[in-house]
Amino acid sequence: MNINTAADSSFAAEPWANISPKAVNFLVCLVVCLIVPVLCACGGPQVIKGTESGLIKENVTAGSEEVIFPDAPPSVADGQVVWQKLNCAVCHGMEGGGVPGKCAINLANKYRMVKEKPVDQYKFLVYGISAPKAFGAAGFMHPAINKLTNRRDAWNLVFYVRSLARPAATPAQVAEVSSVFGSNCAVCHGTKGYGDGPVGRNFEPMPANFQNFPRFYDRSDFILWDHIANGIKWEGMPNFLGKEDKAKNVKFDQAYIWKLVDYVRHFQETTEKSLPPTI
Ligand code: HEC
Ligand code: HEC
Repeated sequence: MNINTAADSSFAAEPWANISPKAVNFLVCLVVCLIVPVLCACGGPQVIKGTESGLIKENVTAGSEEVIFPDAPPSVADGQVVWQKLNCAVCHGMEGGGVPGKCAINLANKYRMVKEKPVDQYKFLVYGISAPKAFGAAGFMHPAINKLTNRRDAWNLVFYVRSLARPAATPAQVAEVSSVFGSNCAVCHGTKGYGDGPVGRNFEPMPANFQNFPRFYDRSDFILWDHIANGIKWEGMPNFLGKEDKAKNVKFDQAYIWKLVDYVRHFQETTEKSLPPTI
């Protein structure tokens, strides 16, 4: 007992006594290794061997085209402020029609815009790369807003640009369609669009959750129209084109299917102002 206690206390008093010569060597090496490069670095100009192309992937420092989805519906109204601050109208014109000599495409062309997915527009605006042009030598590099703005403003801008061709549903339009949605869609999709209606719970796949941004930003308006009009065969989503809701006196003609598209979109965008932009 006594011996043990004595050994313990001597160990505590002289911690170096028990360290093997090997460990001392190792420590000395470690100190030398750490100090020498620092001394060299101070001693003269640094020479970096190799070039950037020596990196495993050349574009490793270029940043990835990551898409960060918003956690609340982007605001078309706030997007308009971003549009003005970034002077998009210099080339696109106030209404998106295009300034002669600067931009030949018309952002207000709804036939063009219904085929665009929000997520592609986000990538195009944030990273300034149009995919087909990126591979062609003479490609026009669109101004990227990557460094100028934050992700929330970028999404607001996407939905403002989309609204130039097809205005987002106003609260009055949302209210008008909501009772039709309530009697024809909510049994499956739920009144808040979470895909949790009483009938839909037993479906496989589950009815779509309209609040799922990654899913819906990967859809053009045209695809949504097609899926509502023609249904999704074998997956439980009925076709509505040509049907009627007699109680509500509504015919699901082509125009009304577009109203339903806008209604579905109102879960993923808003016309209300939310927060002022931070640019
Ligand atoms: C220097 C002129 C210029 C400025 C500034 C500019 N654009 Fe463009 N933009 C163009 C041109 C030219 C095209 C067509 C590119 C092409 O043909 O691929 C284009 C294409 C686009 C498209 C793609 C349309 C499509 O369907 O392919 C969007 C969206 C867009 N611009 C939005 C914006 C926004 C938002 C801003 C402001 C941040 C902006 N642009 C600023 C010139 C400009
Ligand atoms: C009988 C249940 C049912 C009803 C009623 C229903 N849906 Fe669906 N819906 C589904 C299911 C199930 C899916 C998911 C299909 C899938 O994931 O392939 C779906 C998917 C969708 C989608 C997503 C399509 C996509 O591209 O991801 C939209 C939009 C949609 N429904 C709109 C509506 C609208 C609008 C109504 C009412 C007019 C409606 N649905 C009525 C079951 C229903």
